[in-house]
Amino acid sequence: MGLGEIRVKDESQRFGFGAFKALGGVLAVYSKLSSAIGEAYHASPSFEEVMKGNHREITKDYVFTTASSGNHGRSVAAGAKLFGNRCIIFLPKFTSAEKEAAIRARGAEVIRVDGDYDTAVAECRREAEANGWTIISDTSWPGYEDTPRDVMRGYTVLVEEVIRQWPPGPTHVFVQAGVGGLAASVIGYLWARYEPRPTFIVVEPESADCWFQSNRAGKPAPASGNADTSMGGLACREISPVTWPVVGLATDWFMTIPEDRVMPTRRLLAHPIDGDPAIASGPSGCAGLAGLLRVCEDGDAFEALHLDRGSRVLLINSEGNLGEGAA
Ligand SMILES: Cc1ncc(COP(=O)(O)O)c(C=O)c1O
Repeated sequence: MGLGEIRVKDESQRFGFGAFKALGGVLAVYSKLSSAIGEAYHASPSFEEVMKGNHREITKDYVFTTASSGNHGRSVAAGAKLFGNRCIIFLPKFTSAEKEAAIRARGAEVIRVDGDYDTAVAECRREAEANGWTIISDTSWPGYEDTPRDVMRGYTVLVEEVIRQWPPGPTHVFVQAGVGGLAASVIGYLWARYEPRPTFIVVEPESADCWFQSNRAGKPAPASGNADTSMGGLACREISPVTWPVVGLATDWFMTIPEDRVMPTRRLLAHPIDGDPAIASGPSGCAGLAGLLRVCEDGDAFEALHLDRGSRVLLINSEGNLGEGAA
């Protein structure tokens, strides 16, 4: 491919959970409960203390909810289960039965909406308002930013691990985006830690190109398509506004990938050449590599990004293969 080195941060094994999302939702649920206890007693309890049920009188009535394409919902469900709270997850029509089952297995109730991810977000907001439930969303909207920030803070764990595990660090980062939370964590954290900072490339499905379109417009803008994509975690029509000041400003290049790249790229990760370790990836997980392959086939793009034999490229396999086999 004409590059120096490619490293994949493999989130397929994260906590036996199968996606980087395990890092965000659980932390945000803890953060809500610990600040409620903190407000009452002027002392914030540790994760373990909340898990043990200290101050149950304050935490027990919290009902957590979120909209999700599957992975974030599983994380919020896991958090609610750890702390013993009721949890209700809104899923779009397209989310796989395996992902729904994995959410139910963590004790949450599931409500399917007749529409896509953005429809699920709207429905979740309506029901939460009507019932007094607490939303743990990974996407933000005006006036709702603290919890999405907590979620993104959780994701930075994986970036810190990259920095520790790969001392020279990357020269180029291909990161996939749905609403932009993962990209904001990766880009923001590396930007703060490296001087000069790496070149950042944000990758999206063609039909869910809200970041590509926002960059063109110079402000948050909707996707040009209907977000009908096999890359469920990236199937978003709108960006998370709180991520705009990071992803909108620091990304060097926005690109899309066509659907027919997904299966070949997953197969390549599953059956690599030259003794590289096999990696189980889900449709959204392989998107960074699909973007890199596309750039490597296009001489002008390759040159514009200053890729060469000295380049060290970081990719993130953001999810494993949850019952969606890459043959
Ligand atoms: C596997 C996977 N990769 C990437 C993303 C994109 O993350 P974000 O929506 O924060 O951009 C998601 C989001 O659900 C996901 O589930």
